[in-house]
Amino acid sequence: MPSCWSFLLSPVADPASQRVRTYHARRGRLSDNHRAALANVGERWLLDPTGDELDLAAVFGRPAPVVLDIGCGMGESSLAQAVAAPDASILAIDVHTRGIATLLRHGEEARLTNVRAVLGDAVTFIEQRVRRGSLAGARIYFPDPWPKVRHHKRRLVQPDFVALLVDRLASGGFIHCATDDEGYAAQMLEVVDAEPRLENPFADFAPRHLTSSTLPGAVDRPVTKYERRAGRLGHPVRDVWATRRLPA
Ligand SMILES: C[S@@+](CC[C@H](N)C(=O)[O-])C[C@H]1O[C@@H](n2cnc3c(N)ncnc32)[C@H](O)[C@@H]1O
Repeated sequence: MPSCWSFLLSPVADPASQRVRTYHARRGRLSDNHRAALANVGERWLLDPTGDELDLAAVFGRPAPVVLDIGCGMGESSLAQAVAAPDASILAIDVHTRGIATLLRHGEEARLTNVRAVLGDAVTFIEQRVRRGSLAGARIYFPDPWPKVRHHKRRLVQPDFVALLVDRLASGGFIHCATDDEGYAAQMLEVVDAEPRLENPFADFAPRHLTSSTLPGAVDRPVTKYERRAGRLGHPVRDVWATRRLPA
């Protein structure tokens, strides 16, 4: 592995460590396959989580709508989105090294060219590297629910974070969230409704199946292990969809 990527094998350095952490600390060793994925294709796929603003058209080698998949986990959904909408560019972000390594491995096997990944804190990445008004959308599927009341401050979908995201969205750009935690679903709806630059065309939770024929940028959210588990537990999954208002 080139020495410049060796940081990938250590725990994620979080320059925003002063901030309340929205993710669970993970331990455990990387398998040889994960190490190989990071070493072999990391340079082509990975973007540094900190640094100057990115020229996203240059990053993807084409001008195309860019959608963030925030907290992408193992990348199951990011890769499905990339296949379902080849004209869009997907930027998948997670702090979980094994998750990102898995995404790299499967993305490379599928020879996808419209995905890049960030191993690091999404809030820091968006703050530092994403230009205002440059995103077509952001997806936040099954963010860590932090169900205990004393942990609610760790939830990602909060007014400040949504305000940051909206700042980076182009006019008409979307935010699409999903969760099977009832309380978090209500919080997502409340936060989106309270953000004056967003409009929710459904005025409530969105339907489970969305398509780009009715909502620009929408893909039918793929079923991942979190939705399968919710089904087994009998937890309803809620979707929240909102778009950045067009200028008056
Ligand atoms: C429950 S998993 C969901 C994974 C995926 N979205 C899915 O639906 O299969 C939530 C993920 O969000 C990631 N996460 C939480 N806070 C994050 C942050 N601030 N930046 C990047 N990733 C974060 C966690 O590491 C975890 O992998």
